[in-house]
Amino acid sequence: MCGIFGYFGHQQALPILVEGLRRLEYRGYDSTGVAVDNGNSIQTYKTVGRVADLKAVLPDEVQGTLGIAHTRWATHGGVTEVNTHPHASHNGAIHLVHNGIIENFQQLRRALASRGIECVSETDSEVLVQMMAFELEKGATPLESVQATLRRLRGTWGLCILFRDHDMMICARNGSPLIIGQGEGETFVSSDPHPLTAHTQRVVYLEDGDIAVIHPESFTITSTKGQEIEPSITVLENAWGEAELGDAPHYMYKEIYEQPDALRQCIAGRVDREMGTGRLGGMGLDHSTLVQAPHVRLLGCGTAAYAAEIGQTLIEKMGRIPAVSHISSEFRNNDTVINPKAIYLAVSQSGETADTISAIKEIKLKGGKVFGVVNVVGSTIARLCGQGVYIHSGPEQSVASTKAFTNMVAALAIFSTQLGRTRHLSKEDGRDLIHHLQQAPHLMETYFEDVGPISEAVDLLCEASSVLFLGRGLSATVAKEGALKLMELAYIPCLAYPAGEMKHGPIALLEEGSPVVIIAPNDHLKEKTLSALHEVKARGAKVILIHEKGDSIASEGDVSIAVPSIHPWLTPLLTVVPLQLMAYETALRLGRDVDRPRNLAKSVTVE
Ligand code: F6R
Repeated sequence: MCGIFGYFGHQQALPILVEGLRRLEYRGYDSTGVAVDNGNSIQTYKTVGRVADLKAVLPDEVQGTLGIAHTRWATHGGVTEVNTHPHASHNGAIHLVHNGIIENFQQLRRALASRGIECVSETDSEVLVQMMAFELEKGATPLESVQATLRRLRGTWGLCILFRDHDMMICARNGSPLIIGQGEGETFVSSDPHPLTAHTQRVVYLEDGDIAVIHPESFTITSTKGQEIEPSITVLENAWGEAELGDAPHYMYKEIYEQPDALRQCIAGRVDREMGTGRLGGMGLDHSTLVQAPHVRLLGCGTAAYAAEIGQTLIEKMGRIPAVSHISSEFRNNDTVINPKAIYLAVSQSGETADTISAIKEIKLKGGKVFGVVNVVGSTIARLCGQGVYIHSGPEQSVASTKAFTNMVAALAIFSTQLGRTRHLSKEDGRDLIHHLQQAPHLMETYFEDVGPISEAVDLLCEASSVLFLGRGLSATVAKEGALKLMELAYIPCLAYPAGEMKHGPIALLEEGSPVVIIAPNDHLKEKTLSALHEVKARGAKVILIHEKGDSIASEGDVSIAVPSIHPWLTPLLTVVPLQLMAYETALRLGRDVDRPRNLAKSVTVE
């Protein structure tokens, strides 16, 4: 969703800001803008569309070493130039970019109107800049104007603010991430780490309630009440800067094919083959917590929720304790009972998903301890949880999640093994699972050598008005993930069902030629899945079958795609890959923007 980049230093700000915006593009946005302060005035340039469109409206040169930039994903008000950030105060003295949502903005807007200050945009963000200008006119300093304004807000914000005639930038955070990067005589601000690594590794993550006053050589952080806060410097991992496209046609393609290496990163050093167990040191789980936990609850949204659902099954299979996965937004709103002795796992690629963050806060408030299963190091969820497991996928830039999904599944499989080995899982079974898990990256590579008739499957999918995905057990969840990928990328309505439920409703959709994707690895449920396959075929539907290599059921599909065999509990790591490729290829065939599907955002930072 929205992205912020700010710069104050010794170089011309504009090219640095535009490059920062380019690196934030993957988050998803619909309009973009910059403001540059040249010491006398602040110049603003905005456009609806891409960063490339913004470049087209920029003059060749804009003087100024201080500036802010924004990519907007519309929440309040349409996708128009006037709603695009930066927003300026009525007198032009202050310019601001904002991520998050101001819940009481209507009330604040009315208060401004009663003082004769009318907002020109429909956004919630503009009220902030007008309120600050009002405070400044009353004699407040820039910092005081920000403090006074923030005290009156309800909602979330990541803010970057320029004050004409003041050599400084002010930033503030509450619920929307902001990171300060300190270079040599220059300071950067960003809503995520990607754009920072090009400039510096030394960063400070602002905490909720922090306000930072930025200068080129230094910055100070205070709380809303004005107390000074000692910044805690973090050194960014190099990997976050290595997300360039290279020779790949799209980020999604690159990330699908990165899965074997990403998996290796996730597994390395975290399994004990001899003892047949996992070792997730970052979780800091002691033996008694694992043994005494009455149940496990997992949280996530979208693809992360499906990884959590697979985690639920693996935990029950290996740990033999109840596990339930929840969609984060539902969990929070249903006033769910929290047992402080239970283990809670929050699964997220970005670590910034607002619904998951709210659910974590709810659990913590009620005494529960939440462990993060997160990709982005230092992200809000990682820091909120304090302990957990980084899935180590490396940067995932395509909006559709691929390599993060398989790494989430792998991390949860390792956790399940660790949990299982403190309970009922035998050493032999643990060893067997670990052995197969370590084989998974190589098996993926084997699959990539011959991905099978993906383009024949795409022929069927391209023509479809809707697609049904079926599977049983773990494959029922893989079906959901496959349906989500195809739907979000190709904009084809997709429905995923456990194969056993098909005859209880969705079968009514089937007609001659309807494509049905069936995931049927060689597990104990395969025979039952085959019954559904026959019912589908009897209605004239066309079956795209995902099966294990060498399995005789290959002849049952109209299009059959073979993946290498693996332990039945790890099949999602392989069966999901052809579904990712099918979604990617179908979207391309239909002329969709694969890396940035319409309306979607990579970091969903609003509820
Ligand atoms: C689907 C997709 C989304 C995300 C969801 C959660 O391809 O990318 O459904 O999985 O928005 O995001 P994270 O994992 O960042 O919490």
